[in-house]
Amino acid sequence: MANLEWSKLPFGYIPTCCNTRCYYKDGKWGEVEVSTSEYINMHMSATGLHYGQQAFEGLKAFRGKDGKIRLFRWEDNWERLCFSCRGILMPEIPKETFKEALLTVVKKNEEFIPPYGTGASLYIRPLVVGTGARIGVSPADEYLFLILVTPVGPYFPQGFKGVDIQIVRDADRAAPLGTGRYKIGGNYAASLASGARAVKEGFKTVLYLDACEKRYIDECGPANFFGIKGNSYITPKSTSILNSITNLSLCTLAEDMGLNVERRRIPVEELAELDEAGACGTAAVITPIKSIQDRETGKVYSYAEEPGPISTKLYKRLQGIQYGDEADKFGWTMEVL
Ligand SMILES: Cc1ncc(COP(=O)(O)O)c(C=O)c1O
Repeated sequence: MANLEWSKLPFGYIPTCCNTRCYYKDGKWGEVEVSTSEYINMHMSATGLHYGQQAFEGLKAFRGKDGKIRLFRWEDNWERLCFSCRGILMPEIPKETFKEALLTVVKKNEEFIPPYGTGASLYIRPLVVGTGARIGVSPADEYLFLILVTPVGPYFPQGFKGVDIQIVRDADRAAPLGTGRYKIGGNYAASLASGARAVKEGFKTVLYLDACEKRYIDECGPANFFGIKGNSYITPKSTSILNSITNLSLCTLAEDMGLNVERRRIPVEELAELDEAGACGTAAVITPIKSIQDRETGKVYSYAEEPGPISTKLYKRLQGIQYGDEADKFGWTMEVL
C-alpha cells in the first residue's frame, strides 16, 4: 500500500506508478501499452492543442470492506467517451481496447486504491487527444488514448455537507446546440472564469442556466443538478448538459425508493418550491446544496443546513453499492481484484 494520508486526500493529482496508452495511426488503433512517464510527446501543431480535439472521462474504482476492488458503470463511461469522440470527429475507442487499458491501469496501481472507510477512491481519467499536426481547421489523422489514475478524496472537501452555490447570467458554459453534451475540455475552459469568480465570492460552484433564455436550470460547473419536491426527484432536461452517469443511477435509485422521477425543464423560480437540492457526479457524488444565490438579482433560495432525508438516503444507497456494502441489484459494478 502506498504511504499516503488516505483520509486527508484532496481531489487532486498524486503521481501513481503508471498509465496506459494506445495510439491511432493509419486508420486504426494499436496495442495497449504501459507507460511510467507522466508526460506526452506530441507535435506542436497537434489538433488537441489548437482546435480542442480532446475528450475525457471520469470514473472511479472503490475498495470494499471485503477487500475487493470494484469499478462503477465503466461501460457507460466508455459509451459516453465514444459519443464525445463522434461529436468532435475523433475515432471511437474499441470496447476491448478501453477495457484492457482500464483493467491494466487499475491492477497495476492497486497500491494506490485507498483503503475502505477513508472516504477516498481511485479516480480514473481516460483521455483522447488529437496528436496529428494540422494548421487548417480539420480533424487530425493521429490520436492518443490514455488512462491515468490518481487517488482522490471528495471533490468538495467539506464531505457530505451542504454548500452554497451561485447562479450566473453573464456567462454560458455551452450553447443549446453546442458541445455541452460532450465531455470535452472546451466546455470546462468556458466555465473557468465564472467558476473562479464564484469561489472568490464565497461559493463552491456555479449553477448555469440555459444559454438561450436564461429561464431554466442547466447544470453545475462539474456536476448535474437535482431537486426533491414532495415525492418527486426532479432533474433538468437540456441539450447542453453532460448526461451524468451518477444522475442516471440516482434516477434509478429514486424510482426504486418509490419516488417519481421527472426529467424536464426546471424554471429558475421553481427552486423556491424544492424541499432539497443537490449536485451529483462521479467527483461530487451527492453534494447537498444549502443555498443558491442569483448573482444578478440577489435572490437567495435557501434549504436546510443539514442534508435532507431523501438526499441522504440516495447518497447512502449509491455509496453502499459502489463500496460493495449493499447488494448490486442493478448490475452496476464489476469486480477487478
Ligand atoms: C459538467 C459535468 N456535469 C456532470 C458531471 C457528472 O457526470 P458523471 O456522473 O458521469 O460523473 C460531470 C463530471 O463528473 C461534469 O463535468
